[in-house]
Amino acid sequence: MATEEITREDALSRVGYRHACHIMLYADTTAKLFRKIPIKHVVLMQMRFDGFFGFPGGLVNPLEETLEVGLSRELKEEVGVAIPVSEEDHLSSCLHQSPSHIITHFYAKKLEESELRDIEKAAVATADDHGLEVMGMVRVPLYFLKDGGGLPRFLSHSFISNCRSQLLFALRHLGLVSKEELERAKKQADRLRH
Ligand code: GTP
Ligand code: MN
Ligand code: MN
Ligand code: MN
Ligand code: MN
Repeated sequence: MATEEITREDALSRVGYRHACHIMLYADTTAKLFRKIPIKHVVLMQMRFDGFFGFPGGLVNPLEETLEVGLSRELKEEVGVAIPVSEEDHLSSCLHQSPSHIITHFYAKKLEESELRDIEKAAVATADDHGLEVMGMVRVPLYFLKDGGGLPRFLSHSFISNCRSQLLFALRHLGLVSKEELERAKKQADRLRH
C-alpha cells in the first residue's frame, strides 16, 4: 500500500482524493491501576462497527466545510459533543493511493480529565452513532504488565487504515510514552500477534 506524508496545505490542493479527519483526545490523570500502577494518561479510541480500533472522526468534504469543522461534526455524531478543533491541533496528513484514493488527517487535543469523562458519558447517552457505527469508546492502556499485558497487548490488535501508526506517532510526539517504552511495546506486540 503506497502511502506518503504530506502537509495539510498540500493535501487540500490535491484533486480526486477523499479526506478523512480523526482525532486523539487525551488527558493527564493521577489514577492508579490496582492502587499501584500509574495510568498516567487517558487516551480515547473507539471500537468501530467493523471490529477495528480507530479514532473518532470521519469523512469530510473540504468543498463544503473546513477539515476542522467537519471533524467537529463527526465528533458530535460519534461521541455526542461537537468538540471544537483548530488547525493548531493538526499533527499529520497521509496520502494513500490504495485501496482507495484517500487522505487521512490526524489531530490531537488535550483536555481535562473531567472533560474527557463527560465525553465518555455523552458518547453513550447522546451520540447518534452509539451502537451503530461506533460500538463504544475505549481507553488505551499505556502501562506494561506481565506477559505483554497493557500497551503491547493493545498494539497487537487490529487497527483501521494507518491508525496504529497515528497512535504510535502521537504517543511519542506528545511525550506520553518514552521512545524506549514504545520500541519495547512494538516488539512485544509483534510477538503476541504470531
Ligand atoms: P460514515 O459516517 O459511515 O461515512 O463514516 P465516517 O465518516 O465516520 O468515516 P470513517 O470514520 O469510517 O473514516 C473514513 C475512512 O477513513 C475509513 O474507511 C478508513 O479507511 C479511514 N479511517 C477510519 N478511522 C481511521 C483512523 O482512526 N485513522 C485513520 N488513519 N484512518 C481511519
Ligand atoms: Mn462518522
Ligand atoms: Mn461521516
Ligand atoms: Mn468515523
Ligand atoms: Mn455516519
